[in-house]
Amino acid sequence: MAKINCIGILTSGGDSPGMNAAIRAVTRTALSKGFTVKGIYRGYEGLMNDEIETFTTESVSNIIARGGTILKSARSKAFTTPEGRKKAYETMKAEGIDALVVIGGNGSLTGARIFAQEFDVPCIGLPGTIDNDLYGTDLTIGYDTTLNTIVDCVDKIRDTANSHERIFFVEVMGRDAGFLAQNSAIASGAEAAIIPEDSTDADQLEHFIGRGIRKSKNSSIVIVSESPKCGAMFYADRVKKEYPQYDVRVSILGHLQRGGSPSARDRILASRLGSAAIDAILDGQRNVMVGIRNDEVVYVPFNDAVRPDKVLNKGLIRVLDELSI
Ligand code: F6P
Repeated sequence: MAKINCIGILTSGGDSPGMNAAIRAVTRTALSKGFTVKGIYRGYEGLMNDEIETFTTESVSNIIARGGTILKSARSKAFTTPEGRKKAYETMKAEGIDALVVIGGNGSLTGARIFAQEFDVPCIGLPGTIDNDLYGTDLTIGYDTTLNTIVDCVDKIRDTANSHERIFFVEVMGRDAGFLAQNSAIASGAEAAIIPEDSTDADQLEHFIGRGIRKSKNSSIVIVSESPKCGAMFYADRVKKEYPQYDVRVSILGHLQRGGSPSARDRILASRLGSAAIDAILDGQRNVMVGIRNDEVVYVPFNDAVRPDKVLNKGLIRVLDELSI
């Protein structure tokens, strides 16, 4: 295996709180082990277009507390094409980058997997997404901060729900996964969650209604996982039509969920995983995502990490159901 002297690092896909802490950890661990580090801007776009800078330890000073990513991020269409990936490989060679650390979610790690196979480039992935939907890791970088942001918002919405005796449908992010919705519902004492991992959307709404909206409570909050088919607006309209006596409102939290200073938990996770990424390179590992399971660092082959079926513990559905009577 060719010797690795220079490591490139990029962030890709939706930004997540803690990405900066991960960039810092990768950079400082790599420098301390004698590697050269190059920061690649705008994800794979910057790799194709040579937006690259040599990083020193100062390049990552004072970023651990900052949300977003100092490297910027992008969802690159061009990198999904063979021509785009070839261009990226040529830049890597010209810049003398021998290995890549990619911080991102499903799409970004899929890109890394294909790139690594096509060009025999060592790639290490770090799970950077608020969705927590990567397989083989208990947590992804950004998930904990976003969960706390959502709970903070729902606590505030609860004040109005109570004061006006309303039903609120609160839509949260998660793409195709209900981790954020289910756990924020438990943590905020919401009355229900509608998530993709449970029964059909219609059944879940029926279940909520069937339990008797507001029989024993003067307000209700339902957390809805975003969905291209039927979001919070859809459910609110249905309830309004069927139960005109209820005062129904919708709140779509949107991108405020992705911003903000990372929680201590995300900073620690990002620092541990970033450092473990360099250990992986030193160990000769390649094409794995670094994850955390039962508080231990694990290395998950890309093929496993990007499976679409990360299991949500069904016990969480029961807990919410029991506690929201
Ligand atoms: O993957 C992170 C995420 O925030 C998803 O939860 C959401 O569906 C998506 O990104 C939104 O993407 P964008 O910021 O490109 O609109």
